[in-house]
Amino acid sequence: MKKLLFSGVVWILCSYFTFSQPPKLHKQEVEVLKKIWEKLGVLEKKEWSLNKDLCNSTELEWVFVRCNCSFESNTTCRITKIQINSKNFSTALPVEFTKLLKLKYLDLSYNNFTGTIPSEWATMQLTDLLLRGNRLSGPFPTTLTSMTSLTYLNIHGNGFSGHIPEHIANMKNLETLVLSSNYFSGELSDGFANLTNLKELEVQGSSFEGPIPSSISILTHLKDLKISDLKTHTSTLPSVEKLIKLRTLVLRNCLIQGSIPNDIGNLPDLEVL
Ligand SMILES: *[C@@H]1O[C@H](CO)[C@@H](O)[C@H](O)[C@H]1NC(C)=O
Ligand SMILES: *[C@@H]1O[C@H](CO)[C@@H](O)[C@H](O)[C@H]1NC(C)=O
Ligand SMILES: *[C@@H]1O[C@H](CO)[C@@H](O)[C@H](O)[C@H]1NC(C)=O
Ligand SMILES: *[C@@H]1O[C@H](CO)[C@@H](O)[C@H](O)[C@H]1NC(C)=O
Ligand SMILES: *[C@@H]1O[C@H](CO)[C@@H](O)[C@H](O)[C@H]1NC(C)=O
Ligand SMILES: *[C@@H]1O[C@H](CO)[C@@H](O)[C@H](O)[C@H]1NC(C)=O
Repeated sequence: MKKLLFSGVVWILCSYFTFSQPPKLHKQEVEVLKKIWEKLGVLEKKEWSLNKDLCNSTELEWVFVRCNCSFESNTTCRITKIQINSKNFSTALPVEFTKLLKLKYLDLSYNNFTGTIPSEWATMQLTDLLLRGNRLSGPFPTTLTSMTSLTYLNIHGNGFSGHIPEHIANMKNLETLVLSSNYFSGELSDGFANLTNLKELEVQGSSFEGPIPSSISILTHLKDLKISDLKTHTSTLPSVEKLIKLRTLVLRNCLIQGSIPNDIGNLPDLEVL
């Protein structure tokens, strides 16, 4: 009886402790961050300390982290979101982000990251990838075309060059695609026409050749379409009859010839032309 009572007390104590302790970041993820901080050269810096509760960081801190703390009966957190902006890192993009298994949202905009997107990243299940304003270069990373869970991709203002591969058609979940201000060239790929979930497409300030693919006119979810600075070949304005959700249409400096189709007047939500 005494023994039973005792184990009962122990059980109550244990459950009291497991339920009252705030959830902790998974040990392995702390190690992964350590490795990433080391690669970025900030491991020794006080403001990048891994001792504080990173899952509860605020927008004002050096790194903004969000976690899901529902693991192991609400005792363990895993990182779901990381945002590191304007920190002037000139290293390569750390491969280790792949080891954050629940990471969905990664924003490394306005740093000075170099190289390309590591091929290892193809295994990540990201929905949002923001790499705006870095110094990434080389051909359009084929790794991206394997990251089919992406709904949001922004690589504005990097040094990528060459053609956009047809395989971009694989990224069927994309809702936002921003490729502007790189050194891309060649014709705009027909693969864009397969991205039927696109709501926002921005292709400005590169060296693409016209024409504007007429297949754009089947992307019926488009709300914002901005294509500019197409060289060499003239374009006729694609039919926008079916793009009834369009709010912003910018087709600047695209060597457009011919008349403006009548259907443009029928778009109910169009505000910027
Ligand atoms: C998060 O931080 C805020 C303010 O620093 C604090 O009030 C809150 O209790 C913290 N939440 C957790 C789960 O640690
Ligand atoms: C947290 O993760 C669990 C298990 O994967 C999932 O069921 C839940 O929807 C997630 N919560 C949030 C807010 O994403
Ligand atoms: C975890 O927390 C959620 C929300 O507070 C709760 O609904 C759920 O029952 C908890 N799960 C466990 C296993 O304690
Ligand atoms: C990136 O490097 C360039 C050249 O060194 C510099 O002008 C720019 O301010 C840097 N970016 C950031 C965010 O510090
Ligand atoms: C960014 O880093 C580069 C070299 O790593 C340095 O030359 C430059 O001054 C830095 N820019 C700023 C704004 O800190
Ligand atoms: C893209 O669409 C074309 C024409 O509808 C189709 O033939 C092709 O198989 C599609 N590509 C992918 C990767 O789905």
